[in-house]
Amino acid sequence: MKKLIPILAVSALLAACAQPQEFHVIPMPAQVTINQGSFCAKCANVSVDEKLDSLSRKAVARFVEALEIASGSKTKTGEGGFRFILNPNLAAEQYSIEINKEGAVVEASALNGFVYACETLKQMLPAAIYSGKPAPASCSWLLPYASILDQPRFGYRGVMLDCARHFWSVEETKKVLDVMTAYKMNRLHWHLTDDQGWRWESKNYPLLTSVGGWRAGTQVGKDKSLGQTDGIRYGGFYTQDELRDVVAYAAERGITVIPEIDLPGHMLAALAAYPNLGCKGGPYEVRQFWGISQDILCAGNEEIYEFLDKLFDELVDIFPSEYIHVGGDECFGGRKEREGLVPWDTCPKCQKLMKKLGIKPGKEARHYLQDYVTQRIQKMLADKGRKIIGWDEILEGNLAPGATVMGWRGTDGGEKAVAKGMTAIMSPNTYMYIDYYQSAEFDKEPVCIGSKVLPVEKVYSYEPLEGMPEGAEDLILGVQCNLWTEYVTTPENLEYMLLPRMCAAAEVGWVAAEAKDPARFDKSLDHAFEIFDAMGLNYCLDSRGKIGFDRVPARDSVELAKYLEEREKEKK
Ligand code: ACM
Ligand code: ZN
Repeated sequence: MKKLIPILAVSALLAACAQPQEFHVIPMPAQVTINQGSFCAKCANVSVDEKLDSLSRKAVARFVEALEIASGSKTKTGEGGFRFILNPNLAAEQYSIEINKEGAVVEASALNGFVYACETLKQMLPAAIYSGKPAPASCSWLLPYASILDQPRFGYRGVMLDCARHFWSVEETKKVLDVMTAYKMNRLHWHLTDDQGWRWESKNYPLLTSVGGWRAGTQVGKDKSLGQTDGIRYGGFYTQDELRDVVAYAAERGITVIPEIDLPGHMLAALAAYPNLGCKGGPYEVRQFWGISQDILCAGNEEIYEFLDKLFDELVDIFPSEYIHVGGDECFGGRKEREGLVPWDTCPKCQKLMKKLGIKPGKEARHYLQDYVTQRIQKMLADKGRKIIGWDEILEGNLAPGATVMGWRGTDGGEKAVAKGMTAIMSPNTYMYIDYYQSAEFDKEPVCIGSKVLPVEKVYSYEPLEGMPEGAEDLILGVQCNLWTEYVTTPENLEYMLLPRMCAAAEVGWVAAEAKDPARFDKSLDHAFEIFDAMGLNYCLDSRGKIGFDRVPARDSVELAKYLEEREKEKK
């Protein structure tokens, strides 16, 4: 892809314009020149090239509708004004905007380019355009004369959403997709299954949701050794119609949904439904505590491959994504358990298979067996026309050539993958785990996992190619921020964890390394906060000295009561 040189001639020229005063688009476009003068978007003419495909037309229509509602005025058809033109010479995610006295000419070659052009225009207009309501009369609808040519640095810009630990409605998931669209993210990695819940309907295996979709209670507090749960049945799942609805909603916004079936570990909810698939045969129950179960799919049992084959038939029919995520992380329990024996080490079926495969006994044996499972699943999915992504544990044992590695244990996993010539997506926990605290003032934040702090500035500071071997730029597909939800219990809490850190991840994925500018980004966040307000989204204000616990009354019920009681005592 051709590298664009950023031309950020913004601030000097803007000073000359009366209105609008600032260019605060996130992620910052690759080339921007702002000129003197402005064009009024209110009541403007709009014309759309007949050659645009139906989804691109829909994207333009959404922009026009938002503008009309917020500005309180209808657009008209006719010459000049906004013109949306197909330009096949541009790359799929590239777009250009030329604003001058004639109006605003938008060019792109495909849906994503048109979506991104519209989002750039929306961010250049008052934040009220995101509200779906009429804006105050004082809002200015002037767009500065400008030349913008933009395209992303990386093709993969993802958000991972965990709906297994806590379940998010279709409506809330669409809100996440909306804010992803606003910041030009293009992959939703949907973590649909885990020890604590199975969240997608299988017609072949209905017990996965009727049994595996529900847990008898949920861990109370952060210390699982206390063995406390709230005793409240918790769960939920998406029907196949709902899954298709989310996939279609995302596709209209240029977002691919990549489903994850985490295997062979993180499978306790499935084992609770179908105990014959585990080494011990059960009984199993959907996990009520956080952390990882040692009970995993029995690699030596042929039935698991038949089960997965049928399951993937259903999955690929729902999700058109080129990639299916097959998990592969933390197969052998938590750190302590990994030192001792795990079911695969003693299960007669797994041991028989290891012997047959010539895997020598020892500490590494289970990794080679996991690798056998991964490669078999990879072949199964290749036969269905799909490629696999796996967490960086798939690098242990033999390699699964052709697989894409999702690096998460620091940057090491991605580095190792690239060194071996494999493609990688970078989601290192050191920069991209947005389930960590956002500020060091833990008592002013909602409860988060562990005790690590990952403020928005740290996310922003991530450089995916740093420390990478030569040639990495061709193998790093992109970046992703991961939102695990063990301690995230309500939509307000979810949005708070996501925002504004997702915006920083969006810049890491979009903007050339040399064009990143923490001060400019921080300033632009003021407008992002207005957009979040207009969209009705919660967010963290730590970067403005207000953390915002009061905005997130989202601790679990028992902890919240204890916390408030203690706060009252302190006041007295
Ligand atoms: C992971 O965070 N277990 C991929
Ligand atoms: Zn077994």
